[in-house]
Amino acid sequence: MRNLDQHTITDAVLARQAATADPRLKRILDSLVRHLHAFARDVELTEEEWFQGIAFLTRCGHITDDRRQEFILLSDVLGLSMLTVAQNNDKPAGCTEATVFGPFHVEGAPHYDLGADISHGARGIPCLVRGTVRGPDGEPVPHAHIDVWQSDEDGLYDVQHEGLGHAQARGILHSDAEGRYHFRSILAVPYAIPHDGPVGDLLTATGRHPWRPAHLHFLIEAKGYERLITHVFRSDDAYLDSDAVFGVRQSLIADWKPQPDGSYLVEYDFVLNRAPAEGS
Ligand code: BEZ
Ligand code: FE
Repeated sequence: MRNLDQHTITDAVLARQAATADPRLKRILDSLVRHLHAFARDVELTEEEWFQGIAFLTRCGHITDDRRQEFILLSDVLGLSMLTVAQNNDKPAGCTEATVFGPFHVEGAPHYDLGADISHGARGIPCLVRGTVRGPDGEPVPHAHIDVWQSDEDGLYDVQHEGLGHAQARGILHSDAEGRYHFRSILAVPYAIPHDGPVGDLLTATGRHPWRPAHLHFLIEAKGYERLITHVFRSDDAYLDSDAVFGVRQSLIADWKPQPDGSYLVEYDFVLNRAPAEGS
């Protein structure tokens, strides 16, 4: 196979990887090669631009560590994360919609009793959060595992505060026998995703801002139901229509109500989809 030219190289690469044993991997790699080559032809990619692309990805690698994941951020701002969520979470009407996971979830968050204050010293206006977890037929889901996390009033998650040493504004609770949950935390505020690296430069070059509308993150799990990864957004937020990572769903927006004592109250009921029967 010599003297390949711009018209024959795609088939040559596909032929070279034709022996890929895993059929799923073969499908993914074949499609990736076809689309990458089609992209280079479509934009008539120059060698200088190819090199700039490599340099951009290299910068993403260099800035990534165990506290910062620039490649996920890149996927998020290009809409790839939300596309993947959307095409894998097509739930029946009435079930709570899923949205992006984001990079700030932490395994092993502290466990709290219902009613506890999960802010654990995080700065912000006090906020009570409550609601129910139900199944698609309206049945309460008791003892659902509710993992919640949010940023503080400066728009930073605890893991972004160097040397903090303990969890703040995150925790795990369980719904009660009637599927109800409630906890205290702080008012969610809009925040800018990390934009001091190559992804920030991409946003600037494309005339985009780095802001996400205020939200609480939830990961809810219960036996017999599908895992739900979602957010609850604030209805009064200026960034609902321009979320930097395309994560907003109308059904996930709630009114966060100011209370006479200066605190806030938000109520949100989750509806979990039933898990497929085992063996099906
Ligand atoms: C978040 O909501 O925590 C998030 C999602 C995507 C990128 C950055 C942050
Ligand atoms: Fe977030």
